[in-house]
Amino acid sequence: MATPMRSFCKQLLFQLKNLEKLPKSRIRCAQHLIPSAKIQKRNFRLHGALFHGDYEWQDPKSEDEVVNITYITRDGEKIPVKGKVGDNVMYLAHRHNIEIEGACEASLACSTCHVYVKDEYFEKLPEPDEKEDDMLDLAVFLKENSRLGCQIILTKELDGIEVTLPQATRNFYVDGHVPQPH
Ligand code: FES
Repeated sequence: MATPMRSFCKQLLFQLKNLEKLPKSRIRCAQHLIPSAKIQKRNFRLHGALFHGDYEWQDPKSEDEVVNITYITRDGEKIPVKGKVGDNVMYLAHRHNIEIEGACEASLACSTCHVYVKDEYFEKLPEPDEKEDDMLDLAVFLKENSRLGCQIILTKELDGIEVTLPQATRNFYVDGHVPQPH
């Protein structure tokens, strides 16, 4: 079994075993998201955030899992981060205090996690689905290489990826609400 798939299954089992300990909002999220998990040819991705960023707070267990990513802030500062296979680019940013907002918490109802993906890595990403496209259409400063950070899941193939934050994002989901990393 491929490493990302193994990692996905382990996390899924962990979440299922611990459902009773989760707050109701987290349970609703998991129930909603589990049936929509899709396995794709080069990757696996969850539509939405099954783990709400918990997974991204775990360090890679071995070098094999490491996926290097560089975030480029609005000021042009480059912030290199050691991510791992399966990490969600938005939640990983939250862990490292990088200002990607994520107002709808990865439920594809905003575009505040908008990022530009360096071309050579943009080509490697799975195609955005219709919902992501719809949200991107509403993003300000849209470019050819725009994607929603909460829909990018790191794989080994993406090692070295660079994502740049746009100058601004529009929050039409919950005005003024900024989820805090946990
Ligand atoms: S956080 Fe809202 S779509 Fe990514």
